[in-house]
Amino acid sequence: MRALRKPAPGPGLELQDIPRPGPGFREVLIRVMRTGLCGTDLHLAGWDDFAAAQLRPPMTLGHEFYGEIVELGAGVATEETTDEGDGDVLHLGQRVSVEGHITCGRCRNCRAGRRHLCIRTSSIGVNRDGAFADYVVVPARNVWPQDPLIDPDLGALFDPLGNAVHTALQSPLSGEDVLVTGAGPIGIMCAAIARHCGARNVVITDPSDYRLALAATTGAVTVNTADQDLRGVMAGLGMTEGFDVGMEVSGAAPAMRQMIEVCNHGAQIAMLGLPKAGYEIDWNQVITRMLTIKGVYGREMFDTWYKASFMLGSSQELREAVRGVITHRFTPEQWADAFEAARSGQCGKVIITWD
Ligand SMILES: NC(=O)c1ccc[n+]([C@@H]2O[C@H](COP(=O)([O-])OP(=O)(O)OC[C@H]3O[C@@H](n4cnc5c(N)ncnc54)[C@H](O)[C@@H]3O)[C@@H](O)[C@H]2O)c1
Ligand SMILES: [Zn+2]
Ligand SMILES: [Zn+2]
Repeated sequence: MRALRKPAPGPGLELQDIPRPGPGFREVLIRVMRTGLCGTDLHLAGWDDFAAAQLRPPMTLGHEFYGEIVELGAGVATEETTDEGDGDVLHLGQRVSVEGHITCGRCRNCRAGRRHLCIRTSSIGVNRDGAFADYVVVPARNVWPQDPLIDPDLGALFDPLGNAVHTALQSPLSGEDVLVTGAGPIGIMCAAIARHCGARNVVITDPSDYRLALAATTGAVTVNTADQDLRGVMAGLGMTEGFDVGMEVSGAAPAMRQMIEVCNHGAQIAMLGLPKAGYEIDWNQVITRMLTIKGVYGREMFDTWYKASFMLGSSQELREAVRGVITHRFTPEQWADAFEAARSGQCGKVIITWD
C-alpha cells in the first residue's frame, strides 16, 4: 500500500510502498478515503523541536481521516459476539471517522470518564502509524461510526470540527456576542457553530483577506486586524459593552491581547490556539474584569463527537459551512504540492484523496 512516511529523523517525507498492516487485538483495519492536512503535519514534516521531541521514525503521518472498516481484529465486539444487539457494534463496510487521541484507560481522569484529560495521551499519526496511507490500523474504541449524511469530505473534518465544537461549547452562546480570533479552518468552524447555536453577533478576525473571505461564508462579521478597527466594527453592530464570549484560535499573541481588550467584564474565553512561545498579557485586565480563560485540548471522548454529529445532522446550513473550509484536494502522489498549499496560508483545509 501507499504510505506517506517520515523515514528518518530530519526534514522531509517519502511516499513509500509498504505492506498493508493487519489489526491486532481490539483493533480494526480501515481503508482510508480522505485525509486532511493540519498544522501538526507541517511541524512533523518540517522537523522542528516539537517534531524531534514527539516523533520516532519511521512513521506514517496523518490523523484527520474518514474511511471504511475492512477488517476486525480479535476481541472487537460484533453482532455475533455481543448479545445486546442494539446496533452500536462495528461491522465490515462501516463508514467511520476516528478519534486520533489514544488514552491509557488507567489514570485518574480516564477512570473517571474524562478521557480528554488523560495524562498519557498518545496520537495516531504521531506516536503510531497514521492515515496518510491506503490503510490504517486503529483501536476499535477510537472509531466513530458515521451516518450516510456525513460524506467522506465532511467525515475527514471531524477531528478539527471536534476541536471547534469543543472550543465553542465551553460557554452558553445563545444571544451572546462572540469574538473568534483566527480564521483558519478551526476558527471558521467555531464561527459557524456559534451562529448555529444562536449567538447574537459573531465576529471573526484575521490579518489575511483570503482567510476572511472563506470565513464570510458562515455569515460571521469579518474584521481584518491589519487594517480595520475592531472597536469601530463593534460600535457599528450596536455593541456598547464588549464581547461576552471569546474563542482564541490563532495561537497569536496580538490576537489574545486584543481579545482581552474588547471582552466585557466577566467574559469567558476559550483558548485552543497553540502559541509558538510564551507571551505577556495584561493580567490586571484579567483580574479586575474577572475574565475566565480556559485552555481547550482535543475533543471530549466522545461527547464532543455526539454533539458534532447531531449538530451537523440537524442543519444543512451548518454542513455546508463546515464543508466550505475545504479549498484544495490532491492525490497521494501530489503530496508535496498539498504540503506546499497548506504551508502557503492561501488555503482552507487541504485534503488528500486516497480512493
Ligand atoms: N488545542 C488543541 O487541541 C488544538 C488542536 C488543533 C489545532 N490547535 C491550534 O489551533 C489553532 C487553529 O488551528 P487552524 O488549523 O485553524 O490554524 P491556522 O494556522 O490555519 O489558523 C490560524 C489563523 O490565525 C490567524 N492569525 C494570525 N495572527 C492573528 C491575529 N493577530 N489576529 C487574528 N488572527 C490571527 C492566521 O492568519 C491564521 O489564518 C492553531 O494555533 C493550532 O495550532 C490546537
Ligand atoms: Zn489535526
Ligand atoms: Zn489515562
